[in-house]
Amino acid sequence: MYACVKCDAQSSKWLGRCPECGGWGTVVENGSTPSAAGGGISPLRRQGGDSAARGGLGRARASSPLSQAAGPEHRARLSSGDAEADRVLGGGFVHGSLVLISGEPGIGKSTLVAQIAGSISSERRAPMAVSRQLSAVSYQPSGETRRAGASPPPNAERRTIYVSGEESARQLADRFARLASSGDGVRFLEPFPVETLVATLEKEKPAFAVLDSVQTLTSDALDATAGSPALVRYATGLLLDLAKRTGITILLVGQVTKDGSVAGPKTLEHLVDAVLTLEGDAAHAYRLLRATKNRFGSTDEVGVFEMTARGLKAVENPSARFLKERAAAPGSVVTGAAEGSRVFLVEVQALVERAAYGTPVRRASGFDGNRLQMLCAILSKRGGLKLGDQDVYVNVIGGLELREPAADLAICAAVASAVRGTAAPEPVLYVGEVGLGGEVRSIPFLDRRLAEAKRLGITRAVVPAKAAKSVDGMNVAGLANVGQL
Ligand SMILES: Nc1ncnc2c1ncn2[C@@H]1O[C@H](COP(=O)(O)OP(=O)(O)O)[C@@H](O)[C@H]1O
Ligand SMILES: [Mg+2]
Repeated sequence: MYACVKCDAQSSKWLGRCPECGGWGTVVENGSTPSAAGGGISPLRRQGGDSAARGGLGRARASSPLSQAAGPEHRARLSSGDAEADRVLGGGFVHGSLVLISGEPGIGKSTLVAQIAGSISSERRAPMAVSRQLSAVSYQPSGETRRAGASPPPNAERRTIYVSGEESARQLADRFARLASSGDGVRFLEPFPVETLVATLEKEKPAFAVLDSVQTLTSDALDATAGSPALVRYATGLLLDLAKRTGITILLVGQVTKDGSVAGPKTLEHLVDAVLTLEGDAAHAYRLLRATKNRFGSTDEVGVFEMTARGLKAVENPSARFLKERAAAPGSVVTGAAEGSRVFLVEVQALVERAAYGTPVRRASGFDGNRLQMLCAILSKRGGLKLGDQDVYVNVIGGLELREPAADLAICAAVASAVRGTAAPEPVLYVGEVGLGGEVRSIPFLDRRLAEAKRLGITRAVVPAKAAKSVDGMNVAGLANVGQL
């Protein structure tokens, strides 16, 4: 097989120009694959019985008991120094894991990893989760380095190496200064080819290493441009092997391309142990940190941060913040969005106006536009609202994205309230999924959504009729159909 080193397109014959990406001279032959080798076995030899097969298929190795591999040091996790990030990771970094953090340019990836690196290396930090790591035999510096006079430094469990292909050491030091993080314990490593980086990390054995970003990594061995899928995959493979072999925890930064994938192919996400995504709307200060893949924890935890001049700060009470400036205007309602084990209350606004010309528009910010069209059709057909010649705009406050069907009822209520021009003096919570028949359907985590509303002093809620229940101190109404809105 032949593959393009730039875009990884496969072909069965050599081509001067890659048909996928148009690159010239980028198609090279892949190493022969096992299946190709297997094809060479003649039917006669296959009939030769067991001995022939055994001779050709590799050497037997011994398996080992799993219990031998388990030890207290494997369960202890490396805290990132930030409670929100730790929660998203499932309780901190697992030693020897390779974690990818991805996000759009300028969203705050470098800021977050610098904060984590600064915190892990910081002297002031109590050596909590990492204290046991020294007892793990495999993490001890080799006898050779000790003989060379380099006695293991007392803070070996905090040693952090930062590789930046995007910033110089000077710029990085400025960043640490701005984040009010000393960065004292952080060591800088030039963006050498990945083979050199691996050898250096293996020799220096830090507890934690940051590589910003995977797209800037180069290689001595592989003839491919930085950022190409082949190189990204190759470099990540080397780093994964390094992490597993040495117990170094590696945090890899990945840029997201326009189509939303990390480094082109999804293969990168399959290689690493965990994928964190930092998302948010550049126009808003809020950032959500989510685990989209986690080999060592749940994938639905969310951390809420705010971008400030001094870096990313965890938001203490997100619901209160999202509702802070809510005004009792027509078209404004509150919904409860469940993200992992948490519920956030957010304000949903709608504006309905007579279409100036032609086809009326349905625009949504923070909500799926196709779903909004569907809900408008349901409101027209089942709810008796005349939306045929009306423009409908929906906006979710705070730059949040509502992805659950549980937000349907809030969208419908906001649109209905905007059409009528009526505003509830007090905030009302709306949660429920709306079906094509206009029926309001049950949703998960209703209790938690109601509890969060109650905590913030909301006393009225509208929920699916089948799930309606009484809650102390709250007026909960059940709704069977959007027509009742
Ligand atoms: N000197 C600065 N002062 C205040 N804010 C800054 C400064 N430098 C960067 N930022 C803010 O931090 C944001 C995130 O930057 P960065 O962490 O470098 O993003 P990424 O690494 O995801 O591309 C920027 O969009 C900007 O808003
Ligand atoms: Mg960056």
